[in-house]
Amino acid sequence: MQTIPVYNPLIEQDEINASIAALELGWLGMGSYVNKFESAIKEFIGSSDRYVAAVSTGHAALHLGLLVAGVEPGDEVITPAFNNIADFQAIIATGAEPVFCDIDNDTLCIDIKKAEKMITKKTKAIIAMDYFCFLCDHSGVAELANKYSLRVIHDAAHSFGSKYQGKMIGSFSDICMFSFDPVKNITCIDGGALVLRSEPELQMVQEMRLIGMGQPASVMYQNKRAWTYDVRRIGFRYHMANLHAAIGLAQLSKMKKISETRRAAARFYNEKLSQVPDLNVPPTDFTDITPFMYFVRVPADKRDALRAHLANQKIDTGIHWQPGHWFTLFKDCRRDDLLVTEQISNEIISLPLHSCMSLESVDRIAKSIISFFGNS
Ligand SMILES: Cc1ncc(COP(=O)(O)O)c(C=O)c1O
Repeated sequence: MQTIPVYNPLIEQDEINASIAALELGWLGMGSYVNKFESAIKEFIGSSDRYVAAVSTGHAALHLGLLVAGVEPGDEVITPAFNNIADFQAIIATGAEPVFCDIDNDTLCIDIKKAEKMITKKTKAIIAMDYFCFLCDHSGVAELANKYSLRVIHDAAHSFGSKYQGKMIGSFSDICMFSFDPVKNITCIDGGALVLRSEPELQMVQEMRLIGMGQPASVMYQNKRAWTYDVRRIGFRYHMANLHAAIGLAQLSKMKKISETRRAAARFYNEKLSQVPDLNVPPTDFTDITPFMYFVRVPADKRDALRAHLANQKIDTGIHWQPGHWFTLFKDCRRDDLLVTEQISNEIISLPLHSCMSLESVDRIAKSIISFFGNS
């Protein structure tokens, strides 16, 4: 019996062919493929009035997004405590402080009412993160941001390919970021992108991703470089390389298959597991969602035993996440009661979810979970 991994990236002949073509081109750095990938993302999210900049990772996208938002030392950024470390580190990297906010018990995304109570004069921005198969209350966040003149960084690392109120994720936020790391809905092996609302913001990101070089992107997009330029701002080596963009383009072309198979697997999990009395399955039918992961909530005192039972049956599971305030580096950050965060962090288990995952695999996992609760 083969182990079912939590993640299993969909790498097929298309990606291998795309990699060979990009390597044969001989221009390995930022170039024409990056430009094509940015245009393809823009077309995919269907937003002609936005600007897309591809970068090396989702973390880089978050860091640059916060800098574009004007976040600087002395500022505070409100983030769900239940979030990826990348967000907390990106905030710290700007010199600002993360402020940990609780999450909503149904969506596991930021609790807007609690977020409002955490706003002070120091608050510069709020991170609106979509979690697994749930989307944040983006209208609520936008209202809050308008009321208090805050910037919004929409962390859409998990929601690429989903729709919010009929609009593609990426098409409506103040600043939106994507991650294309090895396990995301689509991967560039490593990669990220920012979706911005103005040309000056795009220009900032284009410079900052290339260690501050004022090299025109239009030159690099022809697989060339300028030898003279100015340096006007701080920068990082955060650009995306041609090889990664080529793989991303191959992935993007199969987005329909990726969305449909992930959604079908998540629905099958819900159908099989919703009858188990001790379990809480995600309360959604996944309409308009390309689920990144699938999770269940189990009573905290049974979580380790269930994970061990599944491991014995060659089924990998994960924990997403330990919340920010549990880590030494962030333990003194300002926070609210984090009651839901504490509870969820002790209950949550990530189950395997892949693009093109067979329903037989989902069935095997579901049966194994049901047998655990039948015997416990
Ligand atoms: C919610 C969230 N934001 C940001 C990131 C960081 O993305 P990357 O791994 O591409 O740096 C991740 C990574 O898993 C994530 O889950």
